[in-house]
Amino acid sequence: MNAEQTTYGPGDANTRSYSERSPEEIEQEIEGTRQRLSDTLEALQHNLSPRERLMQAKDSALEMGDRLVRSTRAALTPDITTMIRMDHTHVLALFRRYRPGTSMARKRALVANACLALEIHATLEEEIFYPALAAFGHDEVLDKSKPEHDQMRRHIDVLRTSDPTDVGYDDTFRELMRSVLHHVADEESVLLPRAEELMGDRLGELGMQMTMRRMELLKPHLGEVAVTTAKSFPVATVALASGTLALAWLLLRPSRTRPS
Ligand SMILES: [Fe+2]
Ligand SMILES: [Fe+2]
Repeated sequence: MNAEQTTYGPGDANTRSYSERSPEEIEQEIEGTRQRLSDTLEALQHNLSPRERLMQAKDSALEMGDRLVRSTRAALTPDITTMIRMDHTHVLALFRRYRPGTSMARKRALVANACLALEIHATLEEEIFYPALAAFGHDEVLDKSKPEHDQMRRHIDVLRTSDPTDVGYDDTFRELMRSVLHHVADEESVLLPRAEELMGDRLGELGMQMTMRRMELLKPHLGEVAVTTAKSFPVATVALASGTLALAWLLLRPSRTRPS
């Protein structure tokens, strides 16, 4: 009830003077006023209590902190289609370094690095990118993407259980390269432009999801990645490693909890 409204009890008591009202009407009026005062005081006490103000300040500080972390992460994380193209570029760079005269040690590093990169990339696409794109309707290229990943995984299994000194190793890796090149061409010419046309603002949010999931998938393999990257890209390793580790630290560091 509005504090300025006054209820005087039954009938039109508010138009009559106190002398014309019955004792019951006057008593009702006093009780109503007392109740309104009590409600107002309780509301004031609640709003002005130091604990309540402290809790409100804490909530808004936490919300501001969350917003800052989210916007920093978003600024550091490319959108999902850019990230997919970057992955493709990384794997194609590894393929180019694999030549007939390459040393066995370097071939092992190149293949190990490429296999892990392809495996993580395929998982990320299957978990995040393909379902997001499928939500916009049927697409023939999208339909064959998962079976092509499975074919790629079969080549990876063969390579992981053999060695560059084995007969047929180079052929298996070349077969993997051929299927990946074909698959990448389809994604870059059909799926990525389609996603960019349909998804708009969601591309950034999906890129952030992909980065977080990538860090989880990479975490058990960081040592292996450091070694095989150093052997695969000796010159670029220092800059790449420091950038990757800085990003990993930012994304994976535990969030600080505050006492309640
Ligand atoms: Fe891809
Ligand atoms: Fe793919």
